[in-house]
Amino acid sequence: MTEPVGLARGLTNYGDPDFALYLRRSFARSMGYSTDLLARPVIGIADSYSGFNNCHRHFPELVEAVKRGVLAMGGLPLTFPTISLGEVFLNPTSLMFRNLMAMDTEEMIRAQPMDAVVLVGGCDKTVPAQLMGAVSANRPAIQLVAGPMLTARWHGERLGACTDCRRFWAKYRAGEIEKDEIGEIEGNLATTAGTCAVMGTASTMASIAETLGMILPGSAAIPAVHADRLRAAEASGRAAMQLAKTGTTPDRIVTPQSVENALRVLMAIGGSTNAVLHLTAIAGRAGIDLDLDRLNAISETTPVLVDLKPTGPHYMEDLFAAGGIGAVLRELKPLLHPDCMTVAGETLAQRLAAPCGPVDRSIIKPLSEPLQPTGGLVALFGSLAPKGAIFKRSAADPKLFEREGRAVVFTSLEDLSARIDDPDLDVTPEDFLVLQNAGPLSAAGMPEAGYLPLPGKLARGGVKDMVRISDARMSGTAYGSIVLHVTPDAASGGPLAKVRNGDRIRLSVAQRRLDLLVSPEELARRPVVPPPFPERGYAQLYRREILQADRGCDFNFLRKHPLAEVSR
Ligand code: FES
Repeated sequence: MTEPVGLARGLTNYGDPDFALYLRRSFARSMGYSTDLLARPVIGIADSYSGFNNCHRHFPELVEAVKRGVLAMGGLPLTFPTISLGEVFLNPTSLMFRNLMAMDTEEMIRAQPMDAVVLVGGCDKTVPAQLMGAVSANRPAIQLVAGPMLTARWHGERLGACTDCRRFWAKYRAGEIEKDEIGEIEGNLATTAGTCAVMGTASTMASIAETLGMILPGSAAIPAVHADRLRAAEASGRAAMQLAKTGTTPDRIVTPQSVENALRVLMAIGGSTNAVLHLTAIAGRAGIDLDLDRLNAISETTPVLVDLKPTGPHYMEDLFAAGGIGAVLRELKPLLHPDCMTVAGETLAQRLAAPCGPVDRSIIKPLSEPLQPTGGLVALFGSLAPKGAIFKRSAADPKLFEREGRAVVFTSLEDLSARIDDPDLDVTPEDFLVLQNAGPLSAAGMPEAGYLPLPGKLARGGVKDMVRISDARMSGTAYGSIVLHVTPDAASGGPLAKVRNGDRIRLSVAQRRLDLLVSPEELARRPVVPPPFPERGYAQLYRREILQADRGCDFNFLRKHPLAEVSR
């Protein structure tokens, strides 16, 4: 028996399928569609437009372009809203709601009658959430990303969210610029639709989605306001129809090989640390385990090729003009698995065999002359991080890579903000700043707080970087000698919870080590107080099901293969 198509899919259960179809058609006709359109294959469009998401403000125009593509290929496009995650509008943090958006996306793809879906997202957590949901629903799917913002100018200098947000804020804290100037900068950091203009998390996830094969080739870096972005949207609508016809499901695209390719690209672009979490979670939905030892092996054999902020001077619009992710993939070709399928219906090898345009070598370096010989990210292990931590070496000062320091501990974000600028804080530039209780199990929900501000008195004295260690995340747009995602986190009773002021910590990036130099006997004497369990609602579900950073902070029951045992 052939599978039903379009509105005949997944009928509401009244115990009478013919009645259910008649009723559905009748209600669909009330929206003014002709019977001809209602008989066509249906392409769902998951629209994450929201008044609380500046990065998605052009989605109405983008969605119209997707619809054009679907209609041109003889399909019926039907949009549906999902929740949206505007990075700076969510409390306590957007990551806490990524899995909620993934559940929303998955269930609405599954519950509604659609033959394929176009996922329209962009801001940091929205693309991973949509991909996680689509992989779990496993219906033909294609991602369309928002595209990056354009840069603006301030006193002749280019500005782009959000590396420059942090750079100027650090100058303001150090007393190098005035209050009225920071006000002017605030008005010029984000001036167009689209996602942050640097190689932050959104740009990294777009690049990863293109490498995985889940967005159309060449579309990751197209600026949000460029006409090519609308053409990519129309083409995505057309491609969705083709995916529906061939029945190509995400499990044919997201494979162990394409996930490895994505890790390679993550390294080569000096991508965001957050992408490690998201790629781990997406892979987990496909039953693929991404382990941090493998990440280190790939990092050692993948050079950094792309010179974008926060590690270099350029912006996403420059990457687009320089040749985009396609040019990066061409350089990495000898290191990639070539047989991976893409939503365009061709393999990566077929894609890369096509002729390519000119490449600007000031932005995308050749494999033979990389910016850095090894990848941007490494995982550290040791007595302070038995299950790993992440360090972005491409955005840090190598002078701080091999050293031992004294811990200056902040027990929470509240403690940090109360004391970091205290003139009496006992701290020197050689110390290690340690933040506890900002991990996935904490009430803070793993915010992007790992970029701890430098103590006010040191910043004003000209200190630019210090070793900072936490179980938090860091914005993909930030830079510094920052150890993140320490696992297990402090709230689950990991060793991080037991660090006290004055303890010695040893960091060795060369040896991939992070060790707390305190005896096990002494650590056993130090009590750990778990955070209170939330009383109700999503916060309670989150707390019950959230996994640690080494599992991508997904919910255990949403993984393809839930873990039998979860440590809390
Ligand atoms: Fe949306 Fe940066 S705030 S991508």
